[in-house]
Amino acid sequence: MRTALVTGASSGIGEATARRLAAEGYRLMIVARRAERLEALAHELGEGTVAVAADLTDADAPARVRAQVDERFGGRLDLLVNNAGASWRAAFGDPQRGGFENVRRTMAVNFDAAVRLTEALLPAVRAAAPSAIVNVSSVAGRVASPRGGAYSASKFALIGWSEALGFEEAAHGVHVGLVLPGFIATEGFPQTEIRPRFIVSKPEKVADAILRAARGRHEVIVPRGYRIVPLVAALAPGLVRRVAARRR
Ligand SMILES: NC(=O)c1ccc[n+]([C@@H]2O[C@H](COP(=O)([O-])OP(=O)(O)OC[C@H]3O[C@@H](n4cnc5c(N)ncnc54)[C@H](OP(=O)(O)O)[C@@H]3O)[C@@H](O)[C@H]2O)c1
Repeated sequence: MRTALVTGASSGIGEATARRLAAEGYRLMIVARRAERLEALAHELGEGTVAVAADLTDADAPARVRAQVDERFGGRLDLLVNNAGASWRAAFGDPQRGGFENVRRTMAVNFDAAVRLTEALLPAVRAAAPSAIVNVSSVAGRVASPRGGAYSASKFALIGWSEALGFEEAAHGVHVGLVLPGFIATEGFPQTEIRPRFIVSKPEKVADAILRAARGRHEVIVPRGYRIVPLVAALAPGLVRRVAARRR
């Protein structure tokens, strides 16, 4: 049976992805901080599902998760989905909520935690080759907006690192895919202020995209309509700058 590990599976995109992968026949390990949420989902998904409650920014978290993969999955992992993430919107010059501290805490969860977990689990992913790693970045990893500097820094970084990792790991039979969601309504990202409403999509759409990335796509922008954003950003940067500047 194929195995998959999904971080940030206690809500939103990660939870939808865990459900989707279970329906595809994967045996799952689900990771996040909220133990009760994970236990409830593990119960729903069936007996083989392993819930690991961990704050992925903790120094010992990668080793703890790796120990579980070794013990429960025999040290083999067919798919690693680095999805856990968070955003605290603030201008860099805001002395209360911005500054380096906001960049530091955002990088710690959105970038460092994914890199550290991948380092710990790479031997298990390689052992299961052909296998895959899917990293969940964002359209904000291609285009920044005011008060989104810390978040965009983390998501731009995740894209650059993932692209390099993909070249390196191809020789080991490990595919590295990227998923760039647009506005998706979830607990952490309610997107209530976004207009028009039809541009806000659902976590299940991203779960589909993660599966496509796991099956060999290098980059999936979801929903599809958002594909135009990086394209226009490259061809008409002035236009994208004017639209992005209006985001509050
Ligand atoms: N929704 C959007 O519009 C959107 C757009 C682009 C990209 N994304 C990306 O999609 C990913 C999932 O976000 P979402 O929209 O599904 O938001 P969400 O519902 O808030 O889910 C975030 C998940 O990450 C987990 N998490 C946060 N900090 C963690 C930590 N320190 N250690 C372990 N787990 C942690 C949360 O679980 P606990 O709180 O239980 O730890 C939760 O399961 C994120 O990387 C986000 O940046 C979202």
